[in-house]
Amino acid sequence: MRHLIQVLSFVALLAVASTSRAAPTARAAAPVARPIARPIADRELGLSRTSVFEIPSPPAYHAEESAPGDRPLPKRVNAEAPPVVPHAVADFLPITTTQNMCVDCHVVAGPKQKGEPTPVPASHFVDQRHAPGKAGAKVAGARWVCISCHVTRTDAPPAVGSTFRP
Ligand code: HEC
Ligand code: HEC
Repeated sequence: MRHLIQVLSFVALLAVASTSRAAPTARAAAPVARPIARPIADRELGLSRTSVFEIPSPPAYHAEESAPGDRPLPKRVNAEAPPVVPHAVADFLPITTTQNMCVDCHVVAGPKQKGEPTPVPASHFVDQRHAPGKAGAKVAGARWVCISCHVTRTDAPPAVGSTFRP
């Protein structure tokens, strides 16, 4: 009799163990609904709107050749953006640690006179990294290479349209 009870309780234990293990397997097998993704054509990716198998040649453009003050200033896009250089810069490069022709012409006392070099603004004399809020005597190092922010005007049409209005 004692032996029979032992065998029965062992069988009962086994049954409990097997049902508790079976539960998660049953849940994992439930079907998962996935949205069917629409394939995206390569022409719809990126800004160039061409196939990745095409090598588009951008339209030819002419670099600005005018001397400073010869042509009227272009309209500013935004007061916060670096204004476009309206004149040729080839003769004024390279900018080195000891030579900067942009500074030679543009570091002048204001106010701005029409046709004369636009004075370098006060913001360019502040070293935001090492002495923020303090105007230095010289153009700050981070502003030294003018052409890293100020690009020359060209007749190149915009590669991508923009609806931005300042
Ligand atoms: C020989 C003097 C001279 C040199 C050198 C020179 N500029 Fe100019 N720059 C001018 C004059 C003059 C203007 C035109 C101002 C006007 O028409 O009212 C001008 C205009 C500009 C403007 C437009 C400012 C505005 O008010 O919209 C920028 C930006 C500029 N220059 C940047 C540069 C940079 C960068 C360099 C160096 C690569 C440089 N300039 C070298 C004389 C010079
Ligand atoms: C880190 C980017 C940066 C560099 C480098 C830089 N500029 Fe600018 N510049 C700007 C921005 C942004 C503005 C417009 C906001 C302002 O006036 O600070 C500006 C404005 C100007 C203006 C117009 C000032 C006015 O009265 O409207 C002149 C002129 C100018 N910069 C000349 C220069 C010259 C010359 C150099 C090199 C010695 C230079 N910048 C280097 C970003 C830069």
